[in-house]
Amino acid sequence: MIDRLTSLLGEFKSELEGVTDSDALEALRVKYLGRKAPVNSLIKEIGSLPPEERGSAGQNINKAKKDMESALKEALYALESAEGAGNADAERIDVTLPGRRTPAGKPHPVTRVMDEIEDIFLALGFDIAEGPEVEDDYHNFCALNIPKDHPARDMQDTFYVEGDLLLRTHTSPVQIRVMENTTPPLRVIAPGAVYRRDSDLTHTPMFHQVEGFMVDKDVTFADLKGVLTLFLQRLFGDDTPVRFRPSFFPFTEPSAEVDIGCVICNSNSTTCRVCKGTGWLEILGAGMIDPAVFRHVGFDPEEFTGFAFGLGIERIAMLKFGIDDIRLFYENDLDFLRQF
Ligand code: PHE
Repeated sequence: MIDRLTSLLGEFKSELEGVTDSDALEALRVKYLGRKAPVNSLIKEIGSLPPEERGSAGQNINKAKKDMESALKEALYALESAEGAGNADAERIDVTLPGRRTPAGKPHPVTRVMDEIEDIFLALGFDIAEGPEVEDDYHNFCALNIPKDHPARDMQDTFYVEGDLLLRTHTSPVQIRVMENTTPPLRVIAPGAVYRRDSDLTHTPMFHQVEGFMVDKDVTFADLKGVLTLFLQRLFGDDTPVRFRPSFFPFTEPSAEVDIGCVICNSNSTTCRVCKGTGWLEILGAGMIDPAVFRHVGFDPEEFTGFAFGLGIERIAMLKFGIDDIRLFYENDLDFLRQF
């Protein structure tokens, strides 16, 4: 019996050496350790041995089974790690390959100009305020001294929402909202989107303005000129010529329109398409806040004075970047946007 066990182990070992994959290994396990394995018939034969030999025969068979089991385990482990290493080879990462680039976004040109303007006024001690884009008639018009029948309402073709609500046609209602809720001294700018029924080379139905105002005791037209000249020269360059022309707005008195020397032709061309040969570009509207406006927000016009101004951001961006069609800002054409 011992001899048969030994030769069985020998056969097992030589077959095991020829195994190269885990399926063959499993077949080998079934053959030598499964239900019909030869060791099982050896176990059955133990009963026919003389009693004094039975004990050692059983031990030998058990040891042979254990040896085969551990040999199979070892072989399986060796196979698996070899197969794993093969996979790792196929999956190896080539660290020298160039990475995938994530395209970096950039601020929109309108945002850039807006940020620049905000920085200039923040440095001058102004605060930033915001107001609703869906505004009521009172804040957009009445409180700004534009009553219902006022012809100035025609200047700004309004989108009406419903009832008293409309899309604000300018950022000036933010002046009213800030003054309703605070007291002088005030130095505030209010950037944001505004809406008018208008669409051509220089107008889009939505565009952006920055409103600015300063209210205190003894604020004068000289302060208005000083602040706006400094602002425009920071924005367009220290040598930029600035001029003030008399104008009219219902909410300021006196009012002015402010021009800068043409940044396209340097005021040097009689045929410049942008300044139309005048050498000047109109940049913003401004004026001393009308006493009627102060009365609407409960400020005493005898005690306080102030100036206000408003300008269009897209127009500034067009001049700074030399863009001749405002609609390009809102077409989301990446070839256009990537240039900034
Ligand atoms: N709100 C005016 C406009 O939209 C601009 C402006 C603001 C003028 C403040 C004077 C003072 O045209």
